[in-house]
Amino acid sequence: MQNAHRFRSYVQAMTTLVGRPGIPERDVMDEGARLLRDLIAHDDWLPPDLTRSSAEGYRQYLLHCDPLERFCVVSFVWEPGQRTPVHDHLTWGLVGQLRGEERCDEYAPAADGGYARTGSHGMRPGAIDRVSPIIGDVHAVSNASDGVSVSIHVYGANIGAQHRHVFDPATGASQTFVSGYHNTWLPNLWRP
Ligand code: FE2
Repeated sequence: MQNAHRFRSYVQAMTTLVGRPGIPERDVMDEGARLLRDLIAHDDWLPPDLTRSSAEGYRQYLLHCDPLERFCVVSFVWEPGQRTPVHDHLTWGLVGQLRGEERCDEYAPAADGGYARTGSHGMRPGAIDRVSPIIGDVHAVSNASDGVSVSIHVYGANIGAQHRHVFDPATGASQTFVSGYHNTWLPNLWRP
């Protein structure tokens, strides 16, 4: 891990942020977005093994989880054409685009009982997206580029252990899932 100090400083700042007594979610997301924007402004700190794509599906690698599970940081890696199902998070989340381009399709409950697409936007390197049960928590994400795309996600929970949902947008039918993580080791924050 080159330039481990960048990620270490980010984790330290996020740990301080989520530890502020009574801080509202909106303030966590505003300041968290600023910190994430600074982190992804440099692409020299993420271990290459945690950017490996797979033809089997998009990968999600845990980079750090707060010991009290107040936040976690995950790298998502996508090959061209890969996409998530329509899903929720049940916590606040920030997405920072590091490499390539992704597309976010937002969904909301529709009158017919399904989920309707309410918006769509592209994510280029440096862009930050937000999700949460307060501002809109259901979306689908896909790789919109011809190469591998990588985005850095921050959530207000240990997202890989969170029970959450995928939806069939046509019917609104949901299934509970726990995503887990694809890696078995974590970056060494303390590497000089
Ligand atoms: Fe998501």
